[in-house]
Amino acid sequence: MTWWREAVFYQIYIRSFSDGNGDGLGDFPGILGKLDYLEWLGIDAIWVTPFYPSPMADHGYDVSDYKAVDPVFGTLGDVDALLEQAHARGIKVIFDIVPNHTSDQHPWFQNAIRARSDPDRDKYIFRAPDADGGPPNNWRSVFGGPAWTFHEPTGEYFLHLFAPEQPDLNWRNPEVHEYFDGIIRFWLDLGADGFRIDVAHALYKDEMLRSQPEIRRVPGTQYQALEGTYAWDQPEVHDVYRRWRKIGDSYPGDRVFVGEVFILDPATVAKYTRPDELHLAFNFFLVAQPWDPSRMKHAISLSMEEMRLVENKPTWVLSNHDVVRHVTRFGGGDLGRRRARAALLMMMALPGAKFIYQGEELGLEQVEIPDALKQDPVFFRTNGKKPGRDGCRVPLPWTESAPTFGFTAGEPWLPIPPEWGPLSVAAQKDDSESMLAFYKEALLASKANSESIRGGFEWLEGPEQCVIFKRSGSHSLVCVCNFGSQAITLPLSGEIMVASEGEGARKVGSAVELDGNCAVWLRA
Ligand code: NOJ
Repeated sequence: MTWWREAVFYQIYIRSFSDGNGDGLGDFPGILGKLDYLEWLGIDAIWVTPFYPSPMADHGYDVSDYKAVDPVFGTLGDVDALLEQAHARGIKVIFDIVPNHTSDQHPWFQNAIRARSDPDRDKYIFRAPDADGGPPNNWRSVFGGPAWTFHEPTGEYFLHLFAPEQPDLNWRNPEVHEYFDGIIRFWLDLGADGFRIDVAHALYKDEMLRSQPEIRRVPGTQYQALEGTYAWDQPEVHDVYRRWRKIGDSYPGDRVFVGEVFILDPATVAKYTRPDELHLAFNFFLVAQPWDPSRMKHAISLSMEEMRLVENKPTWVLSNHDVVRHVTRFGGGDLGRRRARAALLMMMALPGAKFIYQGEELGLEQVEIPDALKQDPVFFRTNGKKPGRDGCRVPLPWTESAPTFGFTAGEPWLPIPPEWGPLSVAAQKDDSESMLAFYKEALLASKANSESIRGGFEWLEGPEQCVIFKRSGSHSLVCVCNFGSQAITLPLSGEIMVASEGEGARKVGSAVELDGNCAVWLRA
């Protein structure tokens, strides 16, 4: 049994987790100070978002040096300490790797813009203007605006699927492959348990850079996608992951690659998780669903389809640093939190790895950040037409004391809502009814039932407002999630193991009564 297949990963968005040095930005010392908390919560692994030297045009997803730590986040010594102390607690640690693009401040790009003849020019995608002097094709940046920026002094456009400060690498250049092999080895040598791969389906582009037939928004996000076949998901990208898989497998200890393959098509995603490629790929189907039983059931079925295709397991994500927090998506406030508890219990009963985004265990909501304080390039690239992603990246409240809530001794890089005291870790930790206590309980229950959760999966028929499925190992676990607002009585036997609300599920003779917006696990 490999550790990652059913693991609970906790995503640390480093800027916003915990600040150890008072500069208002989260950092490694901050993480080190919270390892007790993470161990207490019961997660299996952490994924740390980019911490490499970066001009921070996209908050670290624009890397200028892949084998170092940006001083605002700490030192290589801190990374060592994190690996050692997390491992001592049985917690695995994976890092983010950003292979599609570098920062425009990366030495390669700085060389590339010196002259067309510079040897580093071919490591990026520069092209002459079209006949009218415009960009070489119709590709749009995911963040808004064209995907090409004209470099006046050398008279060519360069490609950037994201911000212009994130020029795309040319993966048809062998030196790019060698460079990333070295980066992977560097962090694996240090003891990393693997990587989360940023836009794993990008990297290669159509060799002829043909224009896209259609441009569409990526469901569930503020991104615009380049629908069609040319800008990403090229067949050649799979060779990269076969090569990386071999590198990972040459290390002891079951290192893992998790791809961010933001394509809502199970057959396509399944190709990335073939046995000789990535171990896992994020499955974003749940992120794209409203609070609707038939939509959720359909999303789960499609995800399971991927599993059938590759005999692997799907993964499950409700929130991350790019999307609106799910408490808000599910209605906000107490209703949103109630539904989020139910959604967690449903997710925890599904087969495969789960990804929890920092702060969801506190029931945090999306925050409306005033325009003047916004920092996300999505907001700026769309001239304010899209709100940007800052609202899901607000620093965590650790204590009840406003205005910094124990996140920092300085001024947080984004303001923390003054009413977040009751949502803080300190306020929730010893309250058995809290969201935090429930997350811990659900994680514990999933460990206690790991055999069933690894076992068979079967849909059970029931009223339309419910999603009901059965997992079977040495005992069966039936999970029911009531998406309706009214309580419902179901002819289901079995003992109640855990419910998303304390008294939310009751045995009534040989039936179970389940409140609205509530989920339950029954042991059959
Ligand atoms: C996906 C990351 O999750 C997102 O935060 C980032 O902006 C883009 N990739 C570009 O690196």
